[in-house]
Amino acid sequence: MKKFLLYFIIGLALFGLPFIAYTSEEYRGAKKCKVCHIKIYKTWKETPHATAFDALNPGVKPEAKKKAGLDPQKDYTTDAQCVRCHTTGDSTLFPGIQCEACHGPGKQYSSAKIMNKKKWKSDPEAYRKMAIEAGLVLAPDEKNCTSCHNEKSPTYKPFDFKARYEEIKHKKK
Ligand code: HEC
Ligand code: HEC
Ligand code: HEC
Ligand code: HEC
Repeated sequence: MKKFLLYFIIGLALFGLPFIAYTSEEYRGAKKCKVCHIKIYKTWKETPHATAFDALNPGVKPEAKKKAGLDPQKDYTTDAQCVRCHTTGDSTLFPGIQCEACHGPGKQYSSAKIMNKKKWKSDPEAYRKMAIEAGLVLAPDEKNCTSCHNEKSPTYKPFDFKARYEEIKHKKK
């Protein structure tokens, strides 16, 4: 049994890390989206999603943690359980709930070949379709939200999609 565990850990060290690096490579991070979507970026910055990773630091939101049976002094920033829902793409390279947590990993669709102002304007339907084929989620729905807003969250609050959506939606330009 001990031997099995050892091999398992060695296996994880050898093959687990490259796997994680590969998946996070599909993401670009909110700063890249910001270059072209500055107004949306600014309204997103004001939502609790932008700072969702901070909650995992020791001493942050002690009351909420105590109520949920968590240790307010513990550092949860490396706890895989918590990281999964408090980052984008399960990677601390992208802390918080960034654009791509809702719109899908953006390396392909956000390339200048697709998200190009001039080209897109010339044929919006065609370019929108291309972006969707490259992984863009145009309007994430309730299922996207409840992949994190569910009972596995230690601080779970019942999730009413319409009401909660109003709180985080992008403001119009
Ligand atoms: C090089 C500039 C550029 C970058 C970088 C970029 N976008 Fe875009 N994006 C555009 C343009 C131009 C459009 C076309 C519609 C418009 O003008 O808003 C667009 C369209 C979109 C749409 C669809 C809007 C519609 O009308 O159908 C979404 C959603 C989107 N981008 C999200 C993102 C996300 C998320 C990222 C980061 C991963 C990103 N974009 C990065 C320029 C960019
Ligand atoms: C919590 C989920 C969520 C996050 C995070 C998020 N979006 Fe969105 N986004 C949506 C939803 C839902 C819509 C469709 C309805 C709407 O327009 O509000 C949308 C629409 C859009 C559109 C097209 C409509 C428009 O208003 O022009 C663009 C472009 C866009 N998002 C870019 C971004 C960028 C850039 C970021 C990061 C700075 C981001 N989004 C973060 C959920 C999200
Ligand atoms: C990747 C996980 C994830 C996704 C996907 C996600 N959220 Fe969140 N959301 C969080 C976390 C974590 C927080 C807590 C942030 C904090 O308080 O530090 C949060 C906070 C919020 C809040 C602030 C109020 C509260 O409940 O504490 C609203 C409103 C919200 N989310 C709405 C949405 C909506 C609507 C969607 C889908 C369009 C969505 N979220 C998708 C993880 C997520
Ligand atoms: C299944 C996804 C998920 C997991 C796992 C998760 N969280 Fe969260 N967390 C959320 C969401 C969603 C919110 C927003 C409030 C809620 O739960 O509805 C949140 C909110 C929080 C808050 C703020 C609560 C408040 O009232 O302001 C803290 C603190 C927090 N989480 C800490 C943690 C810690 C520590 C862990 C690991 C032990 C963890 N979370 C694991 C999804 C998750």
